[in-house]
Parts: sequence; structure tokens; C-alpha cells
Amino acid sequence: MENTPEKKSRVLSMIQPTSVPTLGNYLGALKNWAAMSSDNDCLFAVADLHAITVRQEPAKLRRQSLEMYALLLAIGLDPEESVIFVQSHVPAHSQMAWLLNCYTQFGEAARMTQFKEKSLKHADNVNVGLFSYPTLMAADILLYQTDFVPVGADQKQHLEIARDIAERFNGAYSPTFTVPEPYIGKTGARVMSLQDPTKKMSKSDPNPKASVSVLDTPDEIMKKFKSAVTDSEAVVRYADGKDGINNLMGIYSCCTGLDFDAIEKEFDGKGYGDFKKAVAESVIAELKPVQDRYNEIIGDKKFLEKCAAEGAQKASYLAGKTLNKAMKKIGFWQI
Ligand code: TRP
Repeated sequence: MENTPEKKSRVLSMIQPTSVPTLGNYLGALKNWAAMSSDNDCLFAVADLHAITVRQEPAKLRRQSLEMYALLLAIGLDPEESVIFVQSHVPAHSQMAWLLNCYTQFGEAARMTQFKEKSLKHADNVNVGLFSYPTLMAADILLYQTDFVPVGADQKQHLEIARDIAERFNGAYSPTFTVPEPYIGKTGARVMSLQDPTKKMSKSDPNPKASVSVLDTPDEIMKKFKSAVTDSEAVVRYADGKDGINNLMGIYSCCTGLDFDAIEKEFDGKGYGDFKKAVAESVIAELKPVQDRYNEIIGDKKFLEKCAAEGAQKASYLAGKTLNKAMKKIGFWQI
């Protein structure tokens, strides 16, 4: 190879520390984060500032932020290779969010479907932060001159508004921000509820058997899969109307690498009991290295603090450059 390597794309992903990720979050997003980190110049962060748009219990927010940070390391993200940090440790995010608020129209923020949904859900706390959530997310993205952002369907509109804000600012002054694109990676499984496979698997499901958390014990995982809703056909095959089996096949495929044909062959003539057990075992095996690593580091607060401090320092350096550039263009008196 030449000694001038091709410039890697900058990719940023963030996750709120509001709950332990589900198997759905893991197979659909987190697992891909680890996979893309060697080919790209990645930043990963815990979005704790976003979390307070909904009221949080202080001790719980603190603990969950640390746990989410540990989990990012446990899924295989390497702090030597990527920048891994906590949003509130880098003040430039709040500073940039204020600037971007002044380049965002009330009307365009009011059109965000997530704002409309969340203000109905938390009608007693429709705070201004909930409304300006997209400008904080735009700040997260634009501060790092991000090329690509892996986003699920629910965050697509927020990425769109970040692009609009970047283009508007660049147009009003001169090119300042990279205009980010959605990252189209390997598509992970869309994991559905184990109790109602027409709905997405969600931590907030009132039925605890509906979702598997990445930190569930092997016993809990086995029990949940054994009680997964299926159908009465008793044939393991992928077909319309077999939502429960389709979901289990998707999960099994993600964890074993087998395609649907191979799975149908493997379980030809076998019952759902055998299949569910095999799916549970594949999930247990998939999550074991993550859980082992998590258990190894979660008690080592010194180590986690050191990683987070180093991550924040690297992120602050990069973010500071962009913040400074934007402030200069706007016309702030810099001393
Ligand atoms: N809003 C995202 C979510 O709830 C989390 C997030 C915050 C994010 N800032 C981001 C995602 C920047 C991607 C880029 O899922």
C-alpha cells in the first residue's frame, strides 16, 4: 500500500442511556456499529443530554449513563480505534445546539413527528428541550464534520433537519459543516415482540416476556423464547401470516449466519419446541461475549472513568474546532 491511505469516512452514532438495549437494538443497530468501526473513522456516544427531555431520576440517569458506556465497550467498540464518549462531557454540544437553534425555524421543528408523538405521550411535560431536541442532535452530528449517520426509521426526519440546517448555515456564510448522509450498512434484523410479532420489540412493552434485554441471563432468555407466540401450523417455514415464526427465523439467521432455506432444512420434520430452544441457544451464544466483557468491566469504575475522560478529550478537540469556526462566521467577538 502507498503511504497515503484513503481518507476514511467519519461516522457518528449515539444512543440514549434510558434503558438496557434489547436484542432488537443489538441485532438491528449495535452489532453493526462494531462491524463498521474498523473501516470508518467512528465516534460513538451516550446521548445523556437528550435523555433529560423526559424527566429522569438523578441516581438512575447517572448509573445508566455509566452502564451504557460500559456496554458500548462490551459490544466490541475499541477506545483506541474510535472515539467513545458521553455527550454531556463535551460542552460544545450544548453550545452548538444554541447556535443552531437560531438557524432553525419554529415551523420546521414543529413538523417533527417524534415531537408530536412525544408531546402527546408526556402531555404534562412538553418542555422546550423536547421541541429543540433535533437541533441538539444536529449539533452532535455537525460538530464532527460527520459524513454518515446510521439511523433507524424513527430518526430519519432528524437527520433530514440536520442536513437542512447545515445547508442553510453553509449558504448564509460559506462552507462550514459537512452535510451528513444516512449510513446504509448491512441491514440487521428488524426484531419483533415475542408476544405480539406484529409489533417491534420494545423495552417499554408492559409484558416482560415480549422483549429480551442484552443483559438477560441464559435462563431468562430460554424462558422468553419458550413462551414466544407462534402459530398452529407446526412447520418451520418463512411465509406470510407466520409473523411469530418469521421473527424467530430472522433472529436465528442473524445469530447463526444461516439463510432461511438452511433453517427450514435444519428444522424439517421437527416441532416448534426444538426450534425455539435452538433460537434461544443461538441468542445466548451471541450475547455471551458481550455479557462476559460487560461483567468484567462494569465494576471497574476507574477504568470506565479513564476511558470516558480520554474519549471526551478527543471529542472536545474535534468539536472545538468546528464550534470555533462557526462562531467566527457568525461574528462573535473572540478573545
Ligand atoms: N436521538 C437518537 C435516538 O434517540 C440518539 C441520538 C442523539 C443520535 N444524537 C444523535 C443518533 C446523533 C445519531 C446521531 O435514538
